[in-house]
Amino acid sequence: KYLKIFAPATVANVSCGFDSLGLAIDNLGDQMSFEKSDEKGIRIKKITGASLPTDINKNAAGVVANAMLQQVSPNFGIDIEIHKGYKPGSGLGSSAASAAGAAFGVNQLLGNPFSLLELTQFAMLGEEATCGSPIADNVSAALYGGFVLVRNYDPLDIVKIPVPIELRLVCIHPEVTVKTKDARDVLPKEIPLKNAVKQWANVGGLISGLYSNDYELIGNSLVDIIVEPVRKHLIPHFDLVKSTAIKAGALGAGISGSGPSIFALCKGDANMNKVYDAVKNAYKTTSINFSIITSEVN
Ligand code: HSE
Repeated sequence: KYLKIFAPATVANVSCGFDSLGLAIDNLGDQMSFEKSDEKGIRIKKITGASLPTDINKNAAGVVANAMLQQVSPNFGIDIEIHKGYKPGSGLGSSAASAAGAAFGVNQLLGNPFSLLELTQFAMLGEEATCGSPIADNVSAALYGGFVLVRNYDPLDIVKIPVPIELRLVCIHPEVTVKTKDARDVLPKEIPLKNAVKQWANVGGLISGLYSNDYELIGNSLVDIIVEPVRKHLIPHFDLVKSTAIKAGALGAGISGSGPSIFALCKGDANMNKVYDAVKNAYKTTSINFSIITSEVN
């Protein structure tokens, strides 16, 4: 009758995998609760931690939950409460966490009629409603956990990729807002074949490195020659963070989703802490407020 869940923040793209790779952050996300009600339909009773619409047609969680109820028509309704653990517009899949959390939570109260893949499809409706594109990278990472590959969109095919045991994440969030839609408007419509070759070779390298625990290969493959060059100007001091992280021994660094957050992947806790300190100290020299976290990928 009542359920409380954690819906994780996520890093999409992971450098080379634009719209097709994502990973889940272990310790950052939304708390959501779901309660059956005698009154049919979906209601978002309360949102704390961010100012977002409770109108179910304008809220990612509401859109998803409503679409699921339309299909199943249960003889009860569901009241949802959301506590946002981090800011929307951060590049850490905020709408995706709410959308994926809603898909998961509502499915539980309905008695689990839907598969994970179907839940991902529902959650994509939330992404479409909030940022204009039904992107699957963040929502699938939030639902499946760990590292995921969106191998195909139509029909949707999600592949869960193993996470090497020592893989760690540092993520810095400069407090500026980058709208996903704006960050998509700057993307090239066409890319030269030689750039495409480099990019998909790096995706292959990254996936291979994750399967074989080859941290050097993971690091060498965390390259994005297509999206990062056109988006990094939207993010204050991106180059400073990236070069500082790599100098401190990170495997690689890049834009988290559509930004402005910047992620670095590291091998082991000691290196993660070193990268965290270095990036934090470097960013303190700028005039931009920020927050920074470390996490496992889980
Ligand atoms: N892959 C998306 C983008 C992330 O980079 O625009 C937002 O879901």
